Amino acid sequence: MIEAPHPYRKLILVCTNAREDGSNCCALRGGSDLHTKIKMAVKAVTSDVRVSRSGCLDNCNTGPTVVVMPDNRWFGEVTEADIPLIVEMVR
Ligand code: FES
Repeated sequence: MIEAPHPYRKLILVCTNAREDGSNCCALRGGSDLHTKIKMAVKAVTSDVRVSRSGCLDNCNTGPTVVVMPDNRWFGEVTEADIPLIVEMVR
């Protein structure tokens, strides 16, 4: 393998996992919409933070789950109201 160059200082993962059996998942709890809104809010203040969709982060019952790396901070039950706080964390 090779180490991939990148322009990012931080990475935000937003779980958007969907389960076809209808069981609890971040997709049912608004993960995709949250991802879009966090991405837009972060892009408005910085270009060196990547906001990516992720698969299941194993906190399905308290989703949507958001992880801020490399800080290793994990958040559950994230709502649109939390976006300003997330943006402040990565500024
Ligand atoms: S579906 Fe999002 S943490 Fe499992």
